Amino acid sequence: MGLAGVRHRHGEGVLKVIVQPLVLHHARKTTLLGLREAFTALPPPPPPLSFAEYSTLPTRGRAAYDQARDDFLHLTLRVPTPEQDIGARILAKLIASNPRRKNSRRGLMISAPMFYGKTELALLLARSTEQSHAARNPDYVDRGEVPVVWTEMTDHSTGKALLAQIIEFLAPTVSVPLHANTDRLRKMAVDMLQTHRTKLLVIDEAHRLGGSEPSSVIKALQNESSATVLLVGIALGGGKAFGSTEGLQVRMRCDMVTLRKTDLKEDEGRVLWHRWVAVFDRNLPLCGHAPGLLTRNAAVLHKAAGGQLSVLAMIVERLIAATLDDTARRNERVTRQRLYAVLDDLRYTTPVRHKITLEDLHEDDLDEAA
Ligand SMILES: Nc1ncnc2c1ncn2[C@@H]1O[C@H](COP(=O)(O)OP(=O)(O)OP(=O)(O)O)[C@@H](O)[C@H]1O
Ligand SMILES: [Mg+2]
Repeated sequence: MGLAGVRHRHGEGVLKVIVQPLVLHHARKTTLLGLREAFTALPPPPPPLSFAEYSTLPTRGRAAYDQARDDFLHLTLRVPTPEQDIGARILAKLIASNPRRKNSRRGLMISAPMFYGKTELALLLARSTEQSHAARNPDYVDRGEVPVVWTEMTDHSTGKALLAQIIEFLAPTVSVPLHANTDRLRKMAVDMLQTHRTKLLVIDEAHRLGGSEPSSVIKALQNESSATVLLVGIALGGGKAFGSTEGLQVRMRCDMVTLRKTDLKEDEGRVLWHRWVAVFDRNLPLCGHAPGLLTRNAAVLHKAAGGQLSVLAMIVERLIAATLDDTARRNERVTRQRLYAVLDDLRYTTPVRHKITLEDLHEDDLDEAA
């Protein structure tokens, strides 16, 4: 899969850009094919073009080019976070040690408020688990091995529903005997995890599991299969799901990675935020883009985003979308006005409330800054 960009200049300066469209077939990560697509759909940026070059493309070429930059933005452009390193380190250790334990197998929790990048982090960890399995077992797909199983809880999900999802993921053609009792389903799920050499079981939206039934199922899965459980959800440390009684038993058997806002008053937060803004700025898939304005406004963006990476990512996405939507544009430069329009719009269309004004934004003019 992927996207190739080839750029030719012919004698008369005619430009030809071939962008092979990325074909996506699956909407969900909760099937094996869908998850593998999510692992591999990492299109590179399309070849850089000046706005004049872009303007000479035929309509279809421009549409393909726009789609390619959109895909790059939505699927590939991610910034590194400390939680990625911490999570990967803990998970690698657990995956190595859990199969060799007969008792007290441990899991990992990713916990944060809503819209903090939890699922994105889980996907990255899951991808690296699959890749390291693939590196050691090049023919793993042919052998029917499924190193990662991805499940997602919905409202009022039960432990039994979790087991059904595991079975459906690993054996999509088997009709799950939902009338069977939980013990029977658990045995089926555990056997399948073992047969497919599953190393990681992801349970996203895990805060929707509550009470003793799901907790006892998760605990049994940890005891009976050597797969490492990764629970992903909102406020998993407290709350009704894993904060008390049986839930607490699961909590005690998990390490936890929490995602936080960055704080500009702390050195670490300041460095991190500026790095994130700079990564986005360097990689904006805009024609004739010269990085600068975003980076110079890192502190203002921090205020607008409340220090939240996911809101910064949303601002960047909207900036690109607004620029490409402007059919009368003469260039795709990031200007104060364009950035402000996006920030202003955020106040009306999302719960993000900030008090940034146009005057707060710096020009991309280093002389003026001096
Ligand atoms: N490291 C990153 N780099 C760039 N963008 C990111 C990164 N992490 C998260 N995002 C973006 O932040 C947004 C929210 O991420 P995600 O869906 O993972 O959040 P969540 O905490 O799972 O949300 P919810 O509580 O709704 O499940 C997404 O658009 C995602 O692409
Ligand atoms: Mg999520």
